[in-house]
Amino acid sequence: MVDHTAGIESLGDLRGRRVLVRSDLNVPLDGTSITDDGRIRASVPTLRQLSDAGARVVVTAHLGRPDGSPDPRYSLRPVAERLSELLGRPVAFATDTVGASASETVEGLADGGVALLENVRFNAGETSKDDAARGAFADELAALADAFVSDGFGVVHRKQASVYDVAQRLPSAMGGLVAAEVDVLRRLTEHPDRPYVVVLGGSKVSDKLGVIDNLIDKADRLLIGGGMVFTFLKAQGHEVGRSLLEDDQLDTCTRYLTEAADRGVEIVLPTDVVVDTAFPSGDREPQPRVVPASEIPADALGLDIGPKSSAAFAAALADARTVFWNGPMGVFEVEAFAEGTRAVAEALTKVDGLSVVGGGDSAAAVRQLGFDEAAFGHISTGGGASLEFLEGKQLPGIAVLEKD
Ligand code: 3PG
Ligand code: MG
Repeated sequence: MVDHTAGIESLGDLRGRRVLVRSDLNVPLDGTSITDDGRIRASVPTLRQLSDAGARVVVTAHLGRPDGSPDPRYSLRPVAERLSELLGRPVAFATDTVGASASETVEGLADGGVALLENVRFNAGETSKDDAARGAFADELAALADAFVSDGFGVVHRKQASVYDVAQRLPSAMGGLVAAEVDVLRRLTEHPDRPYVVVLGGSKVSDKLGVIDNLIDKADRLLIGGGMVFTFLKAQGHEVGRSLLEDDQLDTCTRYLTEAADRGVEIVLPTDVVVDTAFPSGDREPQPRVVPASEIPADALGLDIGPKSSAAFAAALADARTVFWNGPMGVFEVEAFAEGTRAVAEALTKVDGLSVVGGGDSAAAVRQLGFDEAAFGHISTGGGASLEFLEGKQLPGIAVLEKD
């Protein structure tokens, strides 16, 4: 794949120019407190680079999935504060995205100044499926700036106004974060060192179909845990009690198991699981029990892979030269069900080669479980985006930056 995308330097001298930057600042919040600021930290280098170059930096981003109108629960204000702390310089906050507050805030920026616009998804045009509606909103965003930098890797798989359409309206470049992410993911798709082991978890098989389809002939080993594994176990003929189950994916799981066997790809499923009789919730002490994966009681649900499986997964990762991991092995937020995820993370830190943690929950998990981020080859900021990249899909936010 030839890289036709240009970096920030292609925009020329930025002093005094207004640069709109799409960052992914979609961080988990507990009320108004940020529980994992990884995406904000990852966004800082590009913003600092632009500010140092004398640009007037206008950051646009989303938080959560509001319905296209303002909703205080999804305000980016707490993010502006954290961003300012991490940047070590003031961040002006506009209380709207393209309205009076945004214009005033941008007009008030000095060279090198930084502003964050309120949640771009407070505007229906942002996520509209209608090209004209999205385009009209992109026109308003573009009017705030002289150039555009796409640096929100976690959203490059979205054909949305602030990711896609605005890049067609302004001189545009790829930010350093997107460039770095693409670089690593390319190493996974082109000539990975072997053994190449993929670990998939998370709740839904249906979210992972594309990536399994694509990796089943690239990876040497596929380790499966998390909520999605119960559909595989059921496809193998086991009863899974009240565990997460996608009945409509049973045939697909059977097909994957057969296909993997035909191609000599080793699929590793848990042989034991940690169950409880209820999903963990605040007012109830967890009562974890380890049972064989073939003997999940009818009244129980699986919430983590068991200790034998953790050891087997770690062993299956021990000789890997390339690893991609997406999705926790269990409900890692609760200590009683965190062990499987911890074991996989631990095994990744020992990989002699390239280990990549694919965004979202798995990235949050390694940080929440206290691992040193430097022990991993790369922790992606994009969950869905990294999966779609590995599926071999064209990502709209990257394709739109390609120059001929
Ligand atoms: C993410 O959290 O995966 C990204 O920020 C994209 O958010 P979205 O899935 O709501 O588009
Ligand atoms: Mg997502």
